[in-house]
Amino acid sequence: MENIKDPYHASLLHVFLISFGLYRIDQKGVTITDERTRSHNVFASVRNTGEATGTMEMKSYRPDYTLNDMRLVKAAPEYNDEITIQIQTIFPDLVLQQQDNSLQLRYVIPMGPNEFELLWTYFGYEDDDEETTMRRLRQANLTGPSGFVSVDDTEVLEYSCAGIQANPGNTAVLELGGRGAAPPEDGNMVTEGPIRGFYEYYRTIMYGDQD
Ligand SMILES: [Fe+2]
Repeated sequence: MENIKDPYHASLLHVFLISFGLYRIDQKGVTITDERTRSHNVFASVRNTGEATGTMEMKSYRPDYTLNDMRLVKAAPEYNDEITIQIQTIFPDLVLQQQDNSLQLRYVIPMGPNEFELLWTYFGYEDDDEETTMRRLRQANLTGPSGFVSVDDTEVLEYSCAGIQANPGNTAVLELGGRGAAPPEDGNMVTEGPIRGFYEYYRTIMYGDQD
């Protein structure tokens, strides 16, 4: 659940997204957190269209890179709006996500203190035409257990888990965007507030811990 509660890691970690100009942390976006529990949250962002200022300066942006099938990274606007990514996390273990035209649910199933399963479900609408369904399926290659983007998360979360376990009491401090759970005042995406909010609420209901 931590993985999708920090919107900024994508532009640091996912070279696939940067290489093809699909996501930048300074693109227009917003983080919203449930005010009561601070444990549910959503971030939503609009993909830059045209040449974004500064994109050319990013070392891993490769306008010369191509795929054998570029349709993998070609999104089409739906609902007459802009091309977006939206990820909603619902406490404790459900994720509802729209990434370009790909619609997904993720479930985190704890198997024990150090083990979990992550299930992905992809969906569309009954009245999608064949082209729309194929577009959703092609874009599904970016996510899932061995997706071009999500495979990075799978690897890094193991490092992260190993790093925390080495600390006394298995504790760690996440300070990006401050110490509290509230999103930045302007709602921007450079924050770890939703991760702090998740654990704040988790500790409250599991241990009665108000700190
Ligand atoms: Fe990621």
